[in-house]
Amino acid sequence: MSEPIYYFDIKKIRKDFPILEQKIHGKEFVFLDSGASAQKPVQVIEAMQKSVFTQYANVHRGIYMMSESITEQYEAIRKKISNFLGASTSDEIIFTKNSTEAINLVAYSYGNLIRMGQSILITEMEHHANLVPWQMLRDRLGIRLHVAPIMENGDLDILAFEQILIEYDIALVAVTHMSNVLGTINPIKMLAEMAHKNGAKILVDGSQGIVHQSVNVQELDVDFYCFTGHKLYGPTGIGVLWGKKDILNQMPPFMGGGDMIKNVTFEKSTWASVPTKFEAGTQPILEVIGLGAAIDYVLFIGYDILIQHDKTLVDYATDKMKQVPGLKILGHPTKKGGVVSFTMDNIHAHDIATILDQNGIAIRAGQHCAEPLINKLGETSIARASFAIYTTFEEIDKFINALYLVNNFFKK
Ligand code: ALA
Repeated sequence: MSEPIYYFDIKKIRKDFPILEQKIHGKEFVFLDSGASAQKPVQVIEAMQKSVFTQYANVHRGIYMMSESITEQYEAIRKKISNFLGASTSDEIIFTKNSTEAINLVAYSYGNLIRMGQSILITEMEHHANLVPWQMLRDRLGIRLHVAPIMENGDLDILAFEQILIEYDIALVAVTHMSNVLGTINPIKMLAEMAHKNGAKILVDGSQGIVHQSVNVQELDVDFYCFTGHKLYGPTGIGVLWGKKDILNQMPPFMGGGDMIKNVTFEKSTWASVPTKFEAGTQPILEVIGLGAAIDYVLFIGYDILIQHDKTLVDYATDKMKQVPGLKILGHPTKKGGVVSFTMDNIHAHDIATILDQNGIAIRAGQHCAEPLINKLGETSIARASFAIYTTFEEIDKFINALYLVNNFFKK
């Protein structure tokens, strides 16, 4: 493999992430767990800090200058996210705690529109966040939950997926944009076309996908798309649900409380229009500010660069990992985002992660919130390295060297 190159000024980018400058166990910190939660650039931290120091009040509630101006900022970020996703109106943007809450919102609320005899379709590569809420809905309504299989290389079995859509009355397909384990990037536009042709709606879990792919919900022609802030260089505690307005209008609220109402009496309440109907209680104001700054940061870098860097890192790491004796890579999908999962012969993933940590390297080990998928792969626990815009080739070299140390440590 020829020497990989950077398509941007990596040194400048890394300066935005001062957390990466420290030492762990006396070694330079190598953070390869961005798939679990990405580090935050100073731009995000400073935006939140500026707001809490100079301009903080509740939104939508105060008839005074500071509340009005933070409300304006808050709503401007909703507009920014609407543009970022290519939504037709910012009313379609609902702030949630994370993707998990967004999916639970749809399962609970859209679940009320599902008729007896209809069912839900998910895939074998779903994270628990896009599986458990549907099991709960299945049990609540007494409907069926179908699971489309994946193929040997980690791609979705599209023919089997379509067959389930043809055979059953599927109300909603819930599918990940990108698998957090296999890295598979699903052909969402094609899946949406298939779903719609067969009378189903489609929800996309974009938690990993939006970090590695630009998204235009109208081009993809999906019905719901959600993502979480903390994987996209933003803060925790903030996520987004986008939904088509006519569908959101038909859905009942998920949670009751302040702000989401039109009128309240002791006898009954009526609901505000979308998106407020779905935003009960005081919202995560500072986190919304942070998410706005994170999106600015991502757009400043640009998806062309993000995608190119991601691909180069995956190819570089894969090539070198293949040479490590006893190492098996899980997932060789047609299109792969920035995660590489693996096992090593007779070495538990937790042991790999522990030895790597001793060398300053952070990776994820375990079931990755995707227990059924890990079982399907015939494993009980796996290791994963995941990459971000700040990941360097030197860091991957250190990771590879540490994998050889793991092998040496366990050599009989
Ligand atoms: N879903 C996150 C991951 O894949 C936590 O690590």
